[in-house]
Amino acid sequence: MYDIAIIGAGASGLMTASLLKNNKIVLIDSNKKVGEKIKISGGAKCNITNKYLNENYYLGDKNLIKKTFSQFDQTDLLEYTNKNGLYPSINEKIVKGTYFCNSSSDVITMFSKLTSHVKKYMNTTVSDVEYKDNRFYIYTNNQTIIANKLIIASGGLSYTSLGASDIGYMIAKKFGHTIVPTSPALVGFTVQSDQAWFKKLSGLSLDVKIDVGHKKISGKMLFAHKGCSGPAILSSSLYWKKGQLSIDFLPTKKSYIPKRVRQEIKDKDIDYKDYKFSPASNFGYTKAEVTRGGVNTDEINENFESRLQSGLYFIGEVLDVTGELGGYNFQWAFSSAFVCAKNIQ
Ligand code: FDA
Repeated sequence: MYDIAIIGAGASGLMTASLLKNNKIVLIDSNKKVGEKIKISGGAKCNITNKYLNENYYLGDKNLIKKTFSQFDQTDLLEYTNKNGLYPSINEKIVKGTYFCNSSSDVITMFSKLTSHVKKYMNTTVSDVEYKDNRFYIYTNNQTIIANKLIIASGGLSYTSLGASDIGYMIAKKFGHTIVPTSPALVGFTVQSDQAWFKKLSGLSLDVKIDVGHKKISGKMLFAHKGCSGPAILSSSLYWKKGQLSIDFLPTKKSYIPKRVRQEIKDKDIDYKDYKFSPASNFGYTKAEVTRGGVNTDEINENFESRLQSGLYFIGEVLDVTGELGGYNFQWAFSSAFVCAKNIQ
C-alpha cells in the first residue's frame, strides 16, 4: 500500500518522484529501464529546455501553461539540474534558444539518483485502474498495486516501441474525463502527387518560413523520400490540421537555395515567396515526437488534480498541451510535474 503511485517513469513521472521525498512512492513502467524516451531524445543529447520559453510556443490552455511556468520555468529547471550535477548548455544550431546536455544518459543518471528512495516496478504494464474504498487499485501484468493517490504520467501515443500506450486516456475516460482528439505532431508531412518533385530532392535542406494556421515558423526544411521533414516542418505539423500551408523559400535576402532546388522551383514556375500546398497526411505515430490533443485541461485544476476524482492527477504529455520543437515538451513535462508535486503533499 503506497501513498502515491505514478504510472510512467518518463520525464514527468521521474521529476515528480524526485520531488516527493516524504511519501511512500511507487513508479510503474512497462519499460525495463526508466526514461527510455529521454535516452533517445535530441539525438541522444536531450534538448531539455529553451531560453525563449513562453506559452505561445504551445497548443493548449494558455492560462494554465503560463501559470505553470510562473512556478517552474526554464531558469528553475536549469537551476535544478545544475544543483544535481547536470549542466545543459545552449546550442542553437537547429532551433533558437535550445539547451542540450552532453549526453541524455546524464539526465537518466541524475533522475535515477534522485529517485533512489522510490520503489520501482519496471517491466510492469498497467491495464486498468479502479477506485474503491477511497483507494486506487492499479492492475498490471504482474501484481495489483494499491495507493491513496494516483498520478498519470503515461505520456502520449508516439513511439510504442518505447512503451507508449493509450492507458492514460483510458483511465481518464473511466473517471469521466473527455479527451481532445489525438493526432501525431512534430512529424514530417507526406505529400500529394503535385509535390512528387520533393522526392527527387530527397536529402537536400534549406531555410524557409512556413505560414500555417495563423503561425509563422522559420527554420530548416528537409526534402524527404516520402514528403518533407526538418525542424520547420516538424513545428508546422503542430498547427496543421487540414488544407493548405505556404512556404517562403526566400525568407531573407541572403537565403541560400541549393542549385537543384532552385532549378525545380524555376522549372515548375513556383512562387519562391508563397508556395502553397496541402500535405496529404503525416508520417504517423511511429515517427512523431509527440501527440497533439489529450486529456482535456478544463477538467483538471491548476495543480493538475482531476476535478472529477479527488486524488487523481494528470501531468506531462498525456494532457492536451503540446509544444513546438526545441525543448518545449520536456519543459512542459517537468513544469507540470513540479507543480503537481508541490501541491500533492
Ligand atoms: P514519457 O513518454 O516520457 O513517459 C511515459 C512513460 O509511461 C513511458 O516510460 C511509458 O513506458 C510509460 N507507460 C505508458 N503506458 C504504460 C502502461 N500501460 N503501463 C506502464 N507504463 C506505461 N522533447 C523535448 O522537449 N526535447 C527533445 O529533445 C525531445 N526529443 C524527442 C525525441 C523523440 C524520438 C521522441 C519520441 C520524443 C522527443 N521529445 C522531446 C518529446 C518528449 O520525449 C516527450 O514530450 C516527453 O517525454 C513527455 O514526457 P511524459 O513524462 O509525459 O511521457
